[in-house]
Amino acid sequence: VWTVGESENLSTSYSHITQAAQLLQENEVVAFPTETVYGLGANAFSDDAVQKIFLAKGRPSDNPLIVHIASKDKLNEIVKDIPDYVYKLVDAFWPGPLTFILPKKGELLSTYVTAGLETVGVRMPNHPIALELIKEANVPIAAPSANRSGKPSPTLASHVYHDLNGKISGLVDGGPTGVGVESTVLDCTTTIPTILRPGGITKEQIEFIVGEVKVDKALIEEGHAPKSPGMKYTHYSPNAPVILVEGSEEFLQKQINQFMQQGKKVGLLTTIEGLTKYKADKVITCGSRADLESVAAQLYDVLRKFDEEDVDLIVSESFPQFGVGEAIMNRLLKAAGNHVIVEN
Ligand code: TXA
Ligand code: MG
Repeated sequence: VWTVGESENLSTSYSHITQAAQLLQENEVVAFPTETVYGLGANAFSDDAVQKIFLAKGRPSDNPLIVHIASKDKLNEIVKDIPDYVYKLVDAFWPGPLTFILPKKGELLSTYVTAGLETVGVRMPNHPIALELIKEANVPIAAPSANRSGKPSPTLASHVYHDLNGKISGLVDGGPTGVGVESTVLDCTTTIPTILRPGGITKEQIEFIVGEVKVDKALIEEGHAPKSPGMKYTHYSPNAPVILVEGSEEFLQKQINQFMQQGKKVGLLTTIEGLTKYKADKVITCGSRADLESVAAQLYDVLRKFDEEDVDLIVSESFPQFGVGEAIMNRLLKAAGNHVIVEN
């Protein structure tokens, strides 16, 4: 661990994890890598510790946190009324990017974790540093993504440093996170599970294990209140406004040209395939269209890179909405505040 603001040394060793675990036991907040994004962790049993998360992030207090555990058998210590299909999904996908929403059990969890709700999100992350840290801290760890509220989630330690330097007690650097988008949030309080937030485990993967899966109406149509409180807030936003474009290559270039003719400096978010196809003031590539996992892995870093460029707006290509493309488009739509230009 390096205490933010004190050291430039980004190395990680197991002694750093022990130091970080100690800080967690002292009810301090520490950022750590998971396979999805960096999390900002605190002792989920302590009001004092959990409040520090909300303070550091500037997070609205009505947005509940996910509780992270380091072994599957801790699940039934935190939640109750667990349907059989959850056990099947645990076997298939844990440790991994899938969060279960279930009725909380007992009185141990801080009420700040659940934002007063009777349900709680639980997940076992698939990252050696996260698992070791939680194990050594010996308490469940409440952790949202370790970004300032409203900004893209951090997929590198430097992103966390940029957003939270001076506001947290420690940061364990584990290099780039991997999946790059957050876990899938699955409401399991009903007979048929419902996806509240698309993420690292796809709808198709869940269907393969449990059969039918629903998708929260708020994710599909406008005018429905999301069941996941976090989905109603502005998210993943770079400084410049984002506009998503759906259509042919010619249509996309035409949109860029129109903005440039208005005197705007246009940044383009495309993939390696688009590099030679389009002209804009600043072109940044995000993975390969042939491999949507690579797009997910780089998405937040690319959104953050535009903040270092002097652009007036960011035009983004669209992606197919299946597999992890579902999560990519969900995040891009939020970054764009639902501003989409569609070719007729
Ligand atoms: O991959 C991830 O899930 C990362 C890493 C750090 O584990 N964490 C993460 O946490 O993305 P956060 O706080 O940024 O997003 C949690 C989402 C929010 O949309 C929140 O509203 C929802 O989960 N959520 C948490 N508890 C809930 C509950 N009881 N009912 C419905 N939604 C809930
Ligand atoms: Mg977040």
